[in-house]
Order: sequence, then structure tokens, then C-alpha cells
Amino acid sequence: MTQDKESWPFLSQKTVDLKIIRKAKMKIPFGTITITSKSRELINEALDSGRVSNGKYVREFEELFARLTGTKEAVAVSSGTDADMLALAVLYDFGAKRGDEIIVPALSFVATGNAVLHAGFTPVFVDVELETLNINPRRIEQVITKKTRAIMPVHLMGKPAKMDEINKIARKHKLFVIEDAAEAHGAVYKGKNVGTLGDMAAYSLYLAHIITTVEGGIVTTDREDFAEILRSLRSHGRACKCKVCVVNTNSAYCSKRFKSGRDVRFIFERVGYSSKMNELEAAVGIGSLHMYKKIISKRKRNLLTMIKRFQKFKSCMTTFQQEEHEEIGPHAFPMIVKEKAGFTRDQLVDYLDKRGIDTRDLFSSMPTQCPGFKFLKYKLGAFPNAEYIGDNGLHIGVHQDLGEKHVDYFIRTVGDFLERYAR
Ligand SMILES: Cc1ncc(COP(=O)(O)O)c(C=O)c1O
Repeated sequence: MTQDKESWPFLSQKTVDLKIIRKAKMKIPFGTITITSKSRELINEALDSGRVSNGKYVREFEELFARLTGTKEAVAVSSGTDADMLALAVLYDFGAKRGDEIIVPALSFVATGNAVLHAGFTPVFVDVELETLNINPRRIEQVITKKTRAIMPVHLMGKPAKMDEINKIARKHKLFVIEDAAEAHGAVYKGKNVGTLGDMAAYSLYLAHIITTVEGGIVTTDREDFAEILRSLRSHGRACKCKVCVVNTNSAYCSKRFKSGRDVRFIFERVGYSSKMNELEAAVGIGSLHMYKKIISKRKRNLLTMIKRFQKFKSCMTTFQQEEHEEIGPHAFPMIVKEKAGFTRDQLVDYLDKRGIDTRDLFSSMPTQCPGFKFLKYKLGAFPNAEYIGDNGLHIGVHQDLGEKHVDYFIRTVGDFLERYAR
């Protein structure tokens, strides 16, 4: 039934709005955090010991994370953005020059583009596919130049990018592949864990993510030399980059410190960053990993139920599907309002918001819809799919504090909305 636009209760009718908000029976917040008793114990231990900067708990967290993804190395940093940025900065040790180009999808959380720029590279954008939300591999080769150094696919909303096609192009053109796996904890692609599919992978550990340290990030890789450089980069580019720093763990004597004649801790081999994770964050992360199986199975159930139950709205809204070859990392549930649905994304967002359902936009086309990227001089219209999602996409949480009754409430609320306002 189409609602006369004049009577649309959007951003007006304050009294009506307040009544609806007060009546909302349930709250569906976007994210959640579970701080386990194990984390609390470790946090207290760290506080009592006075050893709170990067030390043994960070190392333990890194080992557990590497074991979980199945990589040889994991290097923890202070955010997912820094994980992207430091992974890219590793490339300077392998011939990359400042200003060289990194291929990224046009649609992502803005951190992906920011990280490329902060690492000193130029982002080159490629449009995404509407069905997968991910970079369209068929468009990658068109933008490869002599300056291209890497492809950085994003597994948006935990859906694995088309890594076989991407890796094939990378091999052909001798490019590095760095996965932006910020949202893809627990995702599997053709039997392999996301995070093991390129040269390095960068995760966010921000609190809305499946494994969290409150704020934080981590880079996984099978290459020991990459991991060493990452450890140097996260600590100002220092020359000392041992896996276990004895000075950091128990103030023991470091036999390597003056080996070269000068204090290795004050030799700065490369342009570095200040991006260490601290012990308190790692303690939260260790607790989060202890709960991982429980968290992921709850989130998976929520996501798959939402995907299935959302099918009935397919005449006016779409979402992604889990395909045979993959397991989506259950980060969140994306939705895209179709053309001619009879309502806008923002009207739906407003309706859900008043009924206690927290939403986020499904990001935007970084080069053409983020004002901060204007200086790159891309023209609106250059990335039609990313821009369409930027205008019409949204997502909601699928986290471990939600269950069947929340999914049910969400589906019912969307159903009520569509009954009133869809064309
Ligand atoms: C795709 C993507 N990349 C990078 C990041 C950056 O992570 P952080 O917020 O931890 O810096 C995020 C954040 O959620 C993200 O969604």
C-alpha cells in the first residue's frame, strides 16, 4: 500500500514520534561487548603488576589469534585502520614507493581508503557487485598501471571477496594481496579461512566485531619477515622487532641491545607508527577468544535466520546470500532498498530507530560520496553500484546478545513498515 507522502511521519510530528519511541517493546542495539571473567582477572593482574604496555598478554593474544586463523604469525596493533595501514607500509621494504597505487573497492567503511592514504599510497577504486557488496574482479585489470603494488579486497559484512579471481590477477601482474578482513572474523572461502588467502590480512578488533579488544586491530600472515617489519612499524620503525621482547615482558636483560654497537631500541630503520596494543586490551581479547565458539555460533544463527526470513521482502529489498563455497563471517545483516520500492532508506531507518532497532548505513562510495576524498577528483556516477548502496543500503547487528525473539521483532517491524509504505 502506498502512503501519501504528505502524511509521512519523517523528522516531524514530534509528539507522535515520542509516543512510538516510548511504546517500543524491544531494543536491538547495533553492537555489544562481553567482558569475560577471564578478561577481568587478567586486567587486574596486569594492573597489579604495573606492566600494562605491550607485553606478555599481547603476545598470548597474538598466538591465540594466529592459531584460530591458521596463520604462522599475528601482530596486534591499536586499530583495524592501523592494521590496514601497517600491512600496506610493509610494502616499502619490498620496492614500493610513496605515491604508488593500491586497488581497493569503492564501497567500504572509510577506514580502508584512509589507511591507504595514511600509508602514503594512492587508492585506486573499483566498483563493487550489488549481490556480493564486494570488489568486482572483472574490473580490476582495467585500472592496473606500472605504479600498482597491491590489491586490497574487503570482505564486506563478512562475505568473502572473490579471492580466486583476485589472486589470479595479482599473480599475473606480480601484485601483493592484502585482505581487509576487518569485518570477516570466522569467514571461510572454499574451505580456507579468510585471513589466509593473501599475503597479509588486517582485522579490526573494535567492539562491534566478533573478536574484540575494545579498540584494536591485528595483522595475520604466514611470512616471518612481514611479521618482523610489522612489529617494527607498530613501534616507530625501531630496529628491534623480536617476537618476544624480553624488556617488555619481564624487564630481563636483552643481550641483543648493544650488539651492533648502538642501542637497537633507538635505531629507527623505517618510517614507523605509534600503534601498539596494550595489555588491558589484549586481556579483553583473550577473554573474547575463549568465548569465540559460543559467540560465532549465536551470530551465525542470527544472520542465517535473518537472510532466510528476509526473502519475503525481496520485491522491495535485497540482502546477500551465503553461497555453497563459503561461510559468511557473521558481522552484521546488510539490506539494500530497491529502486521504486516506494520509500527511502532513511525513512526505513527512521521507522526502525523509533522502534528501538539500531541501524547503520551500508557505508558509501569512498571516492564519490565521502567529502574528504574530493581532492582525488573522482566524479559522482563513476561507481554506480557503490553509490547506489551508499544511498540505499543499511545494516543491523547480529550479535550474541540477540536471539530468536529479536530476529522475530526485526522481521515483524520491517513487515509492518512495508505494509504501510511500500509501493
Ligand atoms: C572494512 C573495514 N576496514 C577497516 C576498519 C577499521 O577498523 P577500526 O575501526 O578498528 O579502525 C573497519 C571498521 O569497522 C571496517 O569495517
